[in-house]
Amino acid sequence: MHPALNIIIKAARRASQIINRAALDLEHLQITTKRQSDFVTEVDKAAEAAIIDILREAYPEYGILAEESGLTAGQGGGSEYQWIIDPLDGTTNFIHGFPQYAISIALAYRGQVTQAVVYDPVRNEMFTASKGGGAFLNDRRIRVSKCLKLEQALLGTGFPYRMYDHIDAYLRIFKELAQKTAGMRRPGAAALDLAYVACGRFDGFWEFGLSPWDMAGGALLISEAGGLVSDLAGNETYLQSGNLVAGTPKVFAQLLQVIDSHRTPGLEA
Ligand code: IPD
Ligand code: CA
Ligand code: CA
Ligand code: CA
Repeated sequence: MHPALNIIIKAARRASQIINRAALDLEHLQITTKRQSDFVTEVDKAAEAAIIDILREAYPEYGILAEESGLTAGQGGGSEYQWIIDPLDGTTNFIHGFPQYAISIALAYRGQVTQAVVYDPVRNEMFTASKGGGAFLNDRRIRVSKCLKLEQALLGTGFPYRMYDHIDAYLRIFKELAQKTAGMRRPGAAALDLAYVACGRFDGFWEFGLSPWDMAGGALLISEAGGLVSDLAGNETYLQSGNLVAGTPKVFAQLLQVIDSHRTPGLEA
């Protein structure tokens, strides 16, 4: 196993202790609202600080992009390595005691993700991937499903809270897919949704308006599990645009076609 992956796993486990302890006492959780439907708790911040402490100690020169503390340069500056951290993906679920949330930590080299962990602390499911080395769930190799047709696919999605200008385009896509698929789910933790595509629980996924920390880890899991991930035009710029489509190779192609047919001006790829 790549040494950085070991450190990421250690950091994810430390964060999970903070999250699991706080989940036992949700009544006393300190919550603040960043914007409408965008919450942050003391747990998001404490988990992020714990993760950063561990990563920093092992690799002080690496840069950091983390949801709650933003961009931090590594010691000496100029490193081509960057951690991309979502300390608690699915904060709204967590606040409500809805047991669907995760920790996502990725390592990128020159903008390409090379190591990834998505950890579900409720079910103790550790999803890991290294570029070129495959994807795993608790040490068992995972693959995307064998689903070939949209009609048989179970899809995941997320609502575009931060892209209300495009809610109509989203709903048109939703309507067509509701008629053309086996079913759709909105679990509420994008990183975990992507991990579910990687291990075959979902056959495809799409969402608009995501942030790099929601996608970086899960996207590597999918590509290492034999699936495809792209922006809305089939290109690789989803980490920049925040708009992501993923799935088994066949479902991905059919999903992309439906989404593309509803793209309106202004909805960038
Ligand atoms: C959110 C979740 C959610 C997605 C939102 C994200 P957070 O992350 O991944 O599923 O729909 O766009 O912001 O804020 O809970 O880490
Ligand atoms: Ca958040
Ligand atoms: Ca997130
Ligand atoms: Ca988060």
